[in-house]
Formats: sequence, C-alpha cells, structure tokens
Amino acid sequence: MALRPLISEQQIQIRISEIGEQITRDYPDGTLYLICILKGACFFLADLARAIRRDAFIDFMGISSYGKERTSSGEVKIVKDLDISLAGADVLIVEDIIDSGVTLSYLTALLKTRAPKSVRIAALLDKPERRLRPVDVAYVGFQIPDEFVVGYGLDYAEKYRNLRDVCVLEPDN
Ligand code: IMP
Ligand code: MG
Repeated sequence: MALRPLISEQQIQIRISEIGEQITRDYPDGTLYLICILKGACFFLADLARAIRRDAFIDFMGISSYGKERTSSGEVKIVKDLDISLAGADVLIVEDIIDSGVTLSYLTALLKTRAPKSVRIAALLDKPERRLRPVDVAYVGFQIPDEFVVGYGLDYAEKYRNLRDVCVLEPDN
C-alpha cells in the first residue's frame, strides 16, 4: 500500500480555524456540547474544540456498524454512550468523514430523542458521491473524491491514525 498526501497538516489547521470562528459566531450563548465520534474524530475534536472561542463541553461516543457490510437498515450499535444529558443543550456531532451517511443519519435521529435544543454536524471530510442517506452537514472541512483516505485520525484496519496529513491509501501496482 502506498500513501499519497491529499490534505496537508497546514491546510487542515487553517480550515479548522475557519470552522472554529464560524461556530463561535453561530453559537453566541447557551450550552454547547461537542460530541466526538470515536475513534476517527479524536484529533479533529481536539483541534476544533480549541479553535472555538467560547465555553464548550466535550464528550465521546463509540459506534460500530453491524457487521462489515453497511446494511440498508442503517442500524449502528452504540458501544460507548455519552456520560452527560443533552437536555436543553446545543449539540454538535464531531465526525471524521461522511461516506454513505448511514452512521450520521442514525445518530442524529437518536440524539434528537434526548431533548437537546439543537443538533448539528461538523465533519472534517465529506465524500458526497457516496451518499445513500441524506445528511444535513452544517460544517464541512473538505469535500473529497471517492477515494479511501487515512491519517489525522482515519484508519485502515486501525493503522495510520497518527499521520499528520490526510493521505489516499493506494494499492501497490
Ligand atoms: P458512513 O456511515 O458510511 O457515512 O460511515 C462513515 C464512517 O466510515 C466513518 O466514520 C469512517 O469510520 C468510515 N470511513 C468512510 N470512508 C472512510 C475512508 O475513506 N477512510 C477511513 N474511514 C472511512
Ligand atoms: Mg468513524
């Protein structure tokens, strides 16, 4: 497997600063919860949270899709739930990448049942060509083509998460 750099560390940081400013403006008051979807979004959460210039609480949620195949049922399993109540809070789901949209459409619907004031999504990467379920994404770092990427939290079989850049993982010829 070969790694081809797609988005540099510097590009990522510049874009996260912009999104952080935007979020700061969009949520002038109220309780803001950043919900990090493990494990892929951990670096994005860490950088985004520090680019937001107001109080923000953070919590983590662990999710796994049932089986290897993404089923049309769109069901995902919660393997680690939140520690906190979302009642009355503005909730921002922080995710690494939106692919089919199955995970986030399920998760958004689930979190809306917990009486939050609002639920929005911030995703570092978006592959719009792959969408099976419509997902309304309020904040997107970068739209990318339909290629498998790793780094900055994203993995292939748990590998490459600690790369600083986002890279395309390409098979050797
Ligand atoms: P969705 O439900 O298809 O939108 O699934 C999104 C999840 O699939 C992400 O949170 C990632 O864990 C994984 N994923 C999708 N595309 C990629 C990729 O290009 N690289 C690494 N993980 C990916
Ligand atoms: Mg993920």
